[in-house]
Amino acid sequence: MKLILVLIATFGAHACQRERTLNYPHKHVKRQANNVTFPPVLDRNEQILIDSFDNTSISTWSYYYTHGDHVAGRNRTMAQWTADRWAEFGFTSKLDEYYVFLNYPVSHSLQLTYSNGTVFTPSLQEAVLPEDDTTSYPNRIPTFHGYSFSGNASAEYVYVGRGQQVDFNRLKALGLKVKNAQEHGMIGCVIFSDPSDDGNVTEAKGVAAYPNGPARNPTTVQRGSVQFLSIYPGDPTTPGYTSKEDSPRADISLSVPRIPSLPISWKDAQPILKALNGYGANGTLVNRTGWVGAIPGVQYNTGQGSSATLTMSNQMEDKMTWIWDVVGIINGTNQDEAVIVGNHRDAWIVGGAADPNSGSAVLIELAKAFGKLMETGWKPTRTIVLCSWDAEEYGLVGSTEWVEEYMPWLKAAAVSYLNVDIAVSGPIPGIAASPDLHAISTELMKKIVWPYRGTTNRTMYDVWMEEDGEVGVLGSGSDYTSFLHRGVGSIDLGAGRGPTDPVYHYHSNYDSFHWMSTFGDPGFITHKAIGQYLTLLLYHIASDASLPLEPANYTPEMTTYLKNLNTAIASTNSTLDLGPLRYALAVFEASAQQFNTLRSLALTTQNSELLTVVNHKARDFSRGFTSQGGLPGREFFQNLIFAPGLDTGYAPATFPGVTEAVTAGNLTLAQEYVEKTAMAILVAASTLKT
Ligand SMILES: *[C@@H]1O[C@H](CO)[C@@H](O)[C@H](O)[C@H]1NC(C)=O
Ligand SMILES: *[C@@H]1O[C@H](CO)[C@@H](O)[C@H](O)[C@H]1NC(C)=O
Ligand SMILES: *[C@@H]1O[C@H](CO)[C@@H](O)[C@H](O)[C@H]1NC(C)=O
Ligand SMILES: *[C@@H]1O[C@H](CO)[C@@H](O)[C@H](O)[C@H]1NC(C)=O
Ligand SMILES: *[C@@H]1O[C@H](CO)[C@@H](O)[C@H](O)[C@H]1NC(C)=O
Ligand SMILES: *[C@@H]1O[C@H](CO)[C@@H](O)[C@H](O)[C@H]1NC(C)=O
Ligand SMILES: *[C@@H]1O[C@H](CO)[C@@H](O)[C@H](O)[C@H]1NC(C)=O
Ligand SMILES: *[C@@H]1O[C@H](CO)[C@@H](O)[C@H](O)[C@H]1NC(C)=O
Ligand SMILES: *[C@@H]1O[C@H](CO)[C@@H](O)[C@H](O)[C@H]1NC(C)=O
Ligand SMILES: *[C@@H]1O[C@H](CO)[C@@H](O)[C@H](O)[C@H]1NC(C)=O
Ligand SMILES: *[C@@H]1O[C@H](CO)[C@@H](O)[C@H](O)[C@H]1NC(C)=O
Ligand SMILES: *[C@@H]1O[C@H](CO)[C@@H](O)[C@H](O)[C@H]1NC(C)=O
Ligand SMILES: [Zn+2]
Repeated sequence: MKLILVLIATFGAHACQRERTLNYPHKHVKRQANNVTFPPVLDRNEQILIDSFDNTSISTWSYYYTHGDHVAGRNRTMAQWTADRWAEFGFTSKLDEYYVFLNYPVSHSLQLTYSNGTVFTPSLQEAVLPEDDTTSYPNRIPTFHGYSFSGNASAEYVYVGRGQQVDFNRLKALGLKVKNAQEHGMIGCVIFSDPSDDGNVTEAKGVAAYPNGPARNPTTVQRGSVQFLSIYPGDPTTPGYTSKEDSPRADISLSVPRIPSLPISWKDAQPILKALNGYGANGTLVNRTGWVGAIPGVQYNTGQGSSATLTMSNQMEDKMTWIWDVVGIINGTNQDEAVIVGNHRDAWIVGGAADPNSGSAVLIELAKAFGKLMETGWKPTRTIVLCSWDAEEYGLVGSTEWVEEYMPWLKAAAVSYLNVDIAVSGPIPGIAASPDLHAISTELMKKIVWPYRGTTNRTMYDVWMEEDGEVGVLGSGSDYTSFLHRGVGSIDLGAGRGPTDPVYHYHSNYDSFHWMSTFGDPGFITHKAIGQYLTLLLYHIASDASLPLEPANYTPEMTTYLKNLNTAIASTNSTLDLGPLRYALAVFEASAQQFNTLRSLALTTQNSELLTVVNHKARDFSRGFTSQGGLPGREFFQNLIFAPGLDTGYAPATFPGVTEAVTAGNLTLAQEYVEKTAMAILVAASTLKT
């Protein structure tokens, strides 16, 4: 078999970014915006929290975070600084340290040799821009892939779209013998980000590129991790247990690749792809969603027989090293109930103004707001835990190790996990959440004034309804993953771009303070609004007498998942007995109704013992959705209601054990997971029933 290098395009959502409805056939019925008062009516505590937010102080926090190397495991000072800010505002703060495997770039190179012998050498660098201070820092971070393999490769190469199993299958159908696995002949991998996501905001459409305008700078490189995140996140040397200095270490080859890879810009990719024009099948013939991108002059051919070759080298320093999670706590009066709020701190670049430090800046301002409220004598009912994670970018390492360490306490006390990663990369609010959080998270949008395209008289809810209006399903790609897969209901929130907004330079040097303050969020006004929203959400979950969670909302959501499963089954002509799932859903529905009845009684009678019973049911029921054995071949992922798709990277799959077995054509396995999933739903129901 011929050895090949492959060139893979990335489109759509990635780590840190919320998956919207891409690849997912699930649409919510839009709610009607019929009950929004403007300006929003707030009670006294809400008003104190909202008024505490200041865009100028947010920009100060943002400036700090975006002017120093904070690649995972490299900036303890920044972790301590975060702990100190939170402590100033009244949180008891500490650093939780883990000893993990990471790797860092040493050197790399790439060369294209045309069939006539001429050589092209891509720069592998992002242009230094005089306007943007951190792009010229001497310690700026090279372009590289986290957890990539050190090695050299040289061979003819092909283009394989997004490199998913379906893409490789299509190539096989077209006569090309490659498989989606390093063991089957792939010797190296070059990944570029195609400008096709940018819609009309492109230089080709006459829009100036950053720093002169909002279009993508053509030298942008999207760094990222190449860990197999849909199999196992966290430190690859400690699957399922926490990473202390003396922890036993496992073989990492199941969760990180063993072939070298490099990320490149579309500018560097252009000649490499052009050299394939006319060879193999063209993009039109391949006819796969997302195969043909928008690089001028490129036909997106597969490229067999081009005789052009790529020569690559990737040298990394593999290392066991310390990472630092910052944890800040305010004890609640009920210490057996806790709400956790998290954001990661590490970035692939010196900047990281959107990913993740828009969230980090917002979290300090949130700590300040709660500090103001505590000055009035207020105390939360439930314990509030703030977390600033390290090493999210490599594979959710800081949050996963932390969850693994505190598992018994989390299982006993965690009410919800609220995640903010990219808090702001554009003006449009977006959320993805487990069903129990849908009602409170949409309701509270009505209390937030959302500055939007020059208007100042609309709520977040109005804007969200107009632009999105759907609560996404959680897949993976940010730090909620470990919580969700241990049965803690979660939400991921932030504001992103629409098709006409400035292009966000994801995981690039241009995700900088300068970009943020000139294009992403001039004046830091969206930062302020999303921070106010997260703060009210935390406030209500931490202090409402009756936990504002809606277990009953799992019924309509799971009914939709079941419909989608039926469609998947029908499209493969298979038959499966879904009776156990239908039965479990009916039992769940009845139990959730009993729960609602009991809750009404507790509220009308103001019986505090009853209220505690109801609150604990709401806290505990979603633990039932998890199964010890996890999903087939990926024990880590225990939630049987939603999980990242095995082959989609981060996009969610619902009833994943069943759905993926159906897709893979193993009906025995599918039937097994029908039973397991039904059982999990029954366990959740048994917690709710009265
Ligand atoms: C409208 O909102 C108010 C205040 O939030 C609430 O009391 C009322 O029940 C709502 N009405 C409807 C029809 O939803
Ligand atoms: C850590 O981050 C801070 C703030 O961005 C920066 O001033 C400092 O130089 C960084 N430390 C290192 C070792 O890069
Ligand atoms: C070799 O081929 C490349 C790509 O077609 C072309 O740009 C270059 O001019 C050619 N070199 C020679 C010496 O013909
Ligand atoms: C780009 O502009 C064209 C022409 O105005 C329009 O039809 C199309 O919908 C736009 N595409 C996007 C993604 O906005
Ligand atoms: C792509 O290939 C098909 C089949 O060979 C051909 O009909 C079509 O014209 C080609 N399209 C382009 C854009 O070259
Ligand atoms: C591409 O595939 C779709 C769906 O399989 C099919 O309907 C369409 O005709 C194909 N287009 C071409 C150009 O082959
Ligand atoms: C890999 O390539 C680099 C850069 O060309 C070179 O310095 C190094 O010696 C090569 N390593 C091996 C093992 O061939
Ligand atoms: C919070 O409660 C825990 C457990 O009771 C206790 O150990 C800790 O000291 C308390 N922290 C503060 C800041 O009161
Ligand atoms: C907001 O204000 C603008 C300009 O004053 C006005 O045209 C618009 O109708 C207002 N919108 C709402 C929702 O009040
Ligand atoms: C904060 O917002 C005000 C009012 O919109 C604006 O004038 C100011 O420049 C903003 N501050 C920063 C640091 O951007
Ligand atoms: C399912 O069966 C129909 C009708 O027999 C057939 O046309 C279709 O190709 C089959 N689909 C699959 C995926 O086997
Ligand atoms: C289908 O799944 C079962 C486990 O339930 C397994 O024993 C079997 O090997 C699988 N079949 C195939 C073809 O993978
Ligand atoms: Zn992130």
